[in-house]
Amino acid sequence: MYQHSMEIFYEPNLRLTRARGLRGYNAGFAETLGCGTFDQHQKDLVWRLLGDTPIGRHSVVVDVGCGIGGPSGWIFERFQPARLIGIDYCTASVQEANARWAHRTRRPCFLQGDAHSLPLADASVDVIFNLESALHYPDKRQFISECRRILKPGGVLCLGDICTHRKKFFAALGMLNNLASQFSTHERLWSAGDYRETFHALGFDRIRHEEVSVQAANSLHDGLTEIARDGWKAARGYRRRFFYLCFVEKLLRRRWLTYDLFTTCRSQVSTELEK
Ligand SMILES: C[S@@+](CC[C@H](N)C(=O)[O-])C[C@H]1O[C@@H](n2cnc3c(N)ncnc32)[C@H](O)[C@@H]1O
Repeated sequence: MYQHSMEIFYEPNLRLTRARGLRGYNAGFAETLGCGTFDQHQKDLVWRLLGDTPIGRHSVVVDVGCGIGGPSGWIFERFQPARLIGIDYCTASVQEANARWAHRTRRPCFLQGDAHSLPLADASVDVIFNLESALHYPDKRQFISECRRILKPGGVLCLGDICTHRKKFFAALGMLNNLASQFSTHERLWSAGDYRETFHALGFDRIRHEEVSVQAANSLHDGLTEIARDGWKAARGYRRRFFYLCFVEKLLRRRWLTYDLFTTCRSQVSTELEK
């Protein structure tokens, strides 16, 4: 659908993570400024989103929008689930994730695929993890109904996304989506309320919601400080992405953008449509 512009958008991120030995593409989580490395902040965001979601040795976990596989790898190493499948739209990211795990026999499996049409059987998954990816999906409702389809009854969806209460402002920025440039993010932002309503409507219950915009801004600030410390020359290949992320940090701190974490369960009861 929009795979080509996604590949272009994530090229600078790929260069940045390679140059700086990072494993994730997300904003991270830091309670205060300067309390750890950016790599640690990215891991902390994963634990914050998972909360006390039960993952055991028999669990099947899917990481939708897995990027280069950092969060998938951290979840896999900590919980040793029976299967962990990472799915991403960008071929370059999936190749990178596979290359990073090539030397391991027991490992997550990474596939190219689209969140709107997940290549998994009905009621086959215990936990879906989806971090900072749904902002790009043109049809988030379709993605959430796919989540409902593949989750077992009682299965958990952990979804962290960048949202906004200022949809008109960001809709105007959406003009950039028409350009095959590195700023064509295809983002179509929802508010946290849109997510809550859609979870209810599509048969999810026990919704937990936490807003962590300031902690995400703190973490980005630390990451950008790490880059700035090494100087302009070292940032070759991702300088424009540096300024883009500075802008995102400011928007999160002022809460023009919000960073929202949700966990919700596929209800045990069938929806009207399924009866
Ligand atoms: C900000 S990155 C986050 C990656 C990863 N979750 C992490 O935390 O490191 C967003 C990811 O979503 C992926 N993505 C965008 N649209 C997608 C779609 N329709 N289906 C699957 N993945 C998609 C992008 O390719 C990108 O790797």
